[in-house]
Amino acid sequence: MKQVSLTVNGRQVQALVEPRTHLADFLRDNQRLTGTHVACEHGVCGACTLLVDDQPVRSCIMYTVACEGRTVRSIEGFADDALMTRLREAFSSEHALQCGFCTPGMLVAARGICQRLSEPDEQRIRDELSGNLCRCTGYVGIVNAIKVVIAEKKREPAGLQAKPPQATPMPSFQPSAMLAQPGVVPAASANAADRKGATRIEKSFTLPYPPAAVWQVLGDLPIASACLPGAELLEHDDRSVKGRIRIKFGPMSAAFAGAASLEKNEAEMRTTIRGASTDSISNSRVRGELAYRLLPGEEGRATTVEVIVHYTLLGPLAQFSRSGLVQEFAGRLTQQFAHNLAERMSGASAGPLKAAEFKVGGMLFSILWHRIRSWFGARD
Ligand code: FES
Ligand code: FES
Repeated sequence: MKQVSLTVNGRQVQALVEPRTHLADFLRDNQRLTGTHVACEHGVCGACTLLVDDQPVRSCIMYTVACEGRTVRSIEGFADDALMTRLREAFSSEHALQCGFCTPGMLVAARGICQRLSEPDEQRIRDELSGNLCRCTGYVGIVNAIKVVIAEKKREPAGLQAKPPQATPMPSFQPSAMLAQPGVVPAASANAADRKGATRIEKSFTLPYPPAAVWQVLGDLPIASACLPGAELLEHDDRSVKGRIRIKFGPMSAAFAGAASLEKNEAEMRTTIRGASTDSISNSRVRGELAYRLLPGEEGRATTVEVIVHYTLLGPLAQFSRSGLVQEFAGRLTQQFAHNLAERMSGASAGPLKAAEFKVGGMLFSILWHRIRSWFGARD
């Protein structure tokens, strides 16, 4: 058991919890705050959405111990919030709920939309709500309720102010050198000791080309980065690289920019990339190491590329860092990268380099579809 101390709906709370207890269970079972609903427990449906340090999070995939020193606001904590009060009324008058199971999470998401956007069109509202699933309403009433409140807020901005949660200092994440200097981490600091507690992802793919050819194309950073969906190479030389990657995963967007060092072992056809980057949207920070090595296939005509990633994610996006979805997302990203690389090597996509696009919708859909099939015991 671990001692945790946090603020819940303006109240200081201390408790002993199992390290694996997620925040939704903690609120429901320990704090008797059952307004937070739990459905998928995979970070997919949005039913458990609440605010941590004023940022929406999926409380089913956030460990309670990760909330040490933070401010949690569940649906019960909005009683004196004028914007939430108005949204509740509008949900009722616009018939935006039936069974009400999705409603607490939906209201928290809706409040965020009303707070951030002044003139969203219907499509934008629907996009923003795409991380919250409702089995009953068909969404029409929900979208209408949000439109009504946004229109009202425009007419009387002073009357519908969201009340900020009680200010609580952010926790300090001491071990990270990148906090002091976002975007740059000396190679030596991302050593094996830093991997302790990091999330590890292992993937591999095989290309129908000999190792020497694959080694050459992977070492050509403009080509390799153009094959990685969402990536953009900014600067590079033999030992370092600067770039950015844009990720959109359902309702979640991130634009990580950072720098890394390169360490190549030509004889073993092995490369290690160590670095750090910061997401300009959520201010989340990631540091880590990506290592790949090439293994010759049969008769040296094919090559298997083994990739091992260790990373530590801090900030609002950390809630996703260990979920199974991230593993599957990384798998799809690797597949797309391998596919783009194979096309480039075959000459099918010769010509000027064009950055690979993120096929977000398809990727999210295929991950969810795979999940749903596996829940029902289907095989690929
Ligand atoms: S229960 Fe948390 S996202 Fe579905
Ligand atoms: S109102 Fe029933 S799931 Fe949304």
